[in-house]
Amino acid sequence: MGKDALFTGTTTRASDFEFDRKVADVFDDMVVRSVPFYRELQCMVVELAKEFFVPGGRILDLGCSTGTTLINLYREVGCKAEAAIGYDNSEAMLAKGLEKLERVGLRDQIQLKRGDLTDERLPLERSGVVTMCWVLQFLRPPEREGLIRRIHRGMLEGGALIVIDKVLNSHPVTNRAFVKLYYDYKRRNGYSDEEIVRKREALENVLIPYRMEENLQMFRQAGFEAVEPFFQWYNFAGFLCVKV
Ligand SMILES: C[S@@+](CC[C@H](N)C(=O)[O-])C[C@H]1O[C@@H](n2cnc3c(N)ncnc32)[C@H](O)[C@@H]1O
Repeated sequence: MGKDALFTGTTTRASDFEFDRKVADVFDDMVVRSVPFYRELQCMVVELAKEFFVPGGRILDLGCSTGTTLINLYREVGCKAEAAIGYDNSEAMLAKGLEKLERVGLRDQIQLKRGDLTDERLPLERSGVVTMCWVLQFLRPPEREGLIRRIHRGMLEGGALIVIDKVLNSHPVTNRAFVKLYYDYKRRNGYSDEEIVRKREALENVLIPYRMEENLQMFRQAGFEAVEPFFQWYNFAGFLCVKV
């Protein structure tokens, strides 16, 4: 696994963040050092998927990156699924994912497909569980509600959508504190101040979090009857949305 040093070495402003080949090469290191509780959340997502997966349905992982979450899901519920499919719009991330599937011997069992989540024609039907971890934050706000509605429409009754995303607080005072504590966390994981600042600049127009309540309201309005936060660490949160 390549070490993430993408934002070291220069003081010029970083250009907008993209999931290109440079990011794909170091993504698995980046994500464990930048996302609080990444490994524990993988366990929680799989546990929740086991509770709510509708046998015979499809496992869909939206914004699957290099396939980590989808592989974990497949290992626990894959034998009861019609298919396990990951969609991502980054060719470079999918290429890394295919290499990983080859290494773990699941190339024939799991499908990784190029697809844009904002494309209304993206096939989302007959899902038994859908995961979308650290992805919604990268979609432009006007695109989010329609996607959540399409996910709900395509889901079998009893199935669940599991979302993890960065969130904003409702007050700037707590927001500033949580962001500061998140940067402390990144420092503890070996990122320098310069790397933290440059990545923040690169993500500025690219990563747009919603507030907790905005997310909860969006999931309910899309038709999910049982919507619960299942995790929060400062400015990161997990949401379980069940189609009852
Ligand atoms: C932070 S990563 C997700 C990590 C991954 N879900 C996991 O569990 O490790 C965000 C991913 O979303 C993908 N993405 C962003 N916007 C997208 C879009 N409009 N359609 C499809 N994929 C998108 C990116 O290419 C990237 O691979």
